[in-house]
Amino acid sequence: MKNKHIALCVTGGIAAYKAAALASMLKKAGAHVHVCMTKNACEFITPLTFETLSANRVITDTFSREAPYEVDHVSLAKQADLVVVAPATANIIGKAANGIADDFVSTLLLAARCKVVFAPAMNTAMLHHPAVQENMQTLAGRGCAFISSQAGMLACGDVGDGRMAEPEEIFSYLDRALSAKKDMQGVRVLVTAGPTREKIDDVRYLTNRSSGKMGYALAEAAAERGAQVTLVSGASLPAPEHVQVIPVVSAQDMYEACMQALPQVDLVVKAAAVADYTPKHKLSGKMKKGGDLALELVRTPDILKAIGQQKQGQVLVGFAAEAADLEKNALAKIKSKNLDLIAANDISRSDIGFGSENNAMTLYFADGSRKELPLAPKKEIADLILSEAMALVQKRH
Ligand code: PMT
Repeated sequence: MKNKHIALCVTGGIAAYKAAALASMLKKAGAHVHVCMTKNACEFITPLTFETLSANRVITDTFSREAPYEVDHVSLAKQADLVVVAPATANIIGKAANGIADDFVSTLLLAARCKVVFAPAMNTAMLHHPAVQENMQTLAGRGCAFISSQAGMLACGDVGDGRMAEPEEIFSYLDRALSAKKDMQGVRVLVTAGPTREKIDDVRYLTNRSSGKMGYALAEAAAERGAQVTLVSGASLPAPEHVQVIPVVSAQDMYEACMQALPQVDLVVKAAAVADYTPKHKLSGKMKKGGDLALELVRTPDILKAIGQQKQGQVLVGFAAEAADLEKNALAKIKSKNLDLIAANDISRSDIGFGSENNAMTLYFADGSRKELPLAPKKEIADLILSEAMALVQKRH
């Protein structure tokens, strides 16, 4: 972070006040902070606040002649080691996705060649609108990163997704992104994420509460560390930068995608919550209701077990989601599925595991050792798991 040039773009949302805390943290960490504000952002917070915190002139207008940066947005784009947009409104995300450059911030985003990170903040309905989701996908596909917004009470009074991530979380993401070690260069990794969906008929399916966040965090962290990552996913989150995403629906689809990828990888991390059962008969159309119904289910392929049987030198990391007897069940899975390491999740806790932003896990190794990973954002947990897995990959080679 020290001596890095960070362009902090503040756009017009109430979360702009949190950007002041972020500017202060970046400055205290030794970064050169260059704040750029849209016209609307200036309605929420004054440039003077950021000027005082960053000890730098704040840029609010493309055409101002007061400072060298304001004459030439390209010079800041060239100088910046990283651009962060916090808060990122639906408007700036839309402009960036569509190459619109009608003010300093949007022009800078078009000119920037360094990593660009968005911290979205908006009303839940706007966040989930297909237009916004598609714009985010477009930007993610071009290599931009997104720091997920959080659920909570929004300024408009609604309760839901869309609250900007806390400044501490954004800071630690940027810190990691700027100091990313490339210790996984050349390592090929297969990650699975999210739930599977098992079709009952054309409108109904069986699934589970996995959001995919844990698996996506693993894929993103591995890619940031230089790995070549294939992500087989049953979730529909924005694709992490430099990750090949193979979307799947059912456990059978996931099995086929994993088995095809297996011979080309060095490390497999299976964070997906795969359905254990699928309807025996999948109906076309919509099943008509009548009396009580018994759905006949059959077992899905056990992908982890199949990989454990067929692996040839790959390091295999399984996951376990357990509501009771965590250690006993995790240790049994290491043996029965021929794993090198298992990351065990206590899903009786409501603050971790399925759908949450954070996780806490116990790692059990095939050699009998264990390690606790205390409560932390999923990305941090992902990095710790990858470090342990990498030690095993290096031992093997
Ligand atoms: O997606 P999030 O909302 O971020 O939540 C993360 C998580 C809780 C889903 C994740 O941390 C987790 O614990 N994943 C494993 C969930 C699970 O299905 O656990 P399990 O104990 O049922 O399965 C054990 C292992 O076998 C897992 O690695 C699973 O991917 C694998 N499996 C299970 C069934 C099956 N048919 N094939 C498999 O490969």
